[in-house]
Amino acid sequence: MIQSIKFCTGNPNKVKEVQSMFTNSLPGISIVQHKLPLVEIQAETLEQVALFKLQSIQNKITPPFFIEDAGFFVDDHLHGFPGVYSHYVMDTIGCEGILTLMQDKKERRAHFEAVIAYMDVNKNVFLFKGENVGEVSLEKRGTSGFGFDPIFISNDTPGKTFAEIGLEEKNKISHRRRALEKFINYFKSHLDK
Ligand code: IMP
Repeated sequence: MIQSIKFCTGNPNKVKEVQSMFTNSLPGISIVQHKLPLVEIQAETLEQVALFKLQSIQNKITPPFFIEDAGFFVDDHLHGFPGVYSHYVMDTIGCEGILTLMQDKKERRAHFEAVIAYMDVNKNVFLFKGENVGEVSLEKRGTSGFGFDPIFISNDTPGKTFAEIGLEEKNKISHRRRALEKFINYFKSHLDK
């Protein structure tokens, strides 16, 4: 029976979110942060990026462990951009750059994706994906959260950006939360057997 799983990330906020979900649902399993440099590759999907990262560290860390990767996708007008390039785009043109690209565009559908890639003790690999669908706002609004939160209005919370609904509300419906729920359900169904 697994007692602890390593979460490879440099982001302590993600670790806290995952730890609190595991504590509530599976108190017997602890999540331990493991900091390792992760290699980003150019790929078309988050699944490909996450799988590559997982495989690139499998000889440096003893399973079970997982990584998480997320991105913001503007569907029609930008054909999924920034997607797998979200981190780089945030650091360069940011929310303002996306709003400029979307200026006067009526079709504003967008979504967030998160993928958890997990390697179990036998080196089997599993992917868990979560999404939140909505649209790009007309201007930046709100102060909470990070990244593209000020320009994303989820269909679950019409009229308000992720940065306006607050972290607590966001964490109940976020792409990351939805990927995590699938990850936790996987453990639950295995524990029941
Ligand atoms: P990461 O893989 O979680 O580090 O996400 C890559 C990039 O996607 C981040 O640098 C953010 O710009 C963007 N991103 C991911 N998740 C979120 C979110 O929940 N809100 C806003 N931006 C996000």
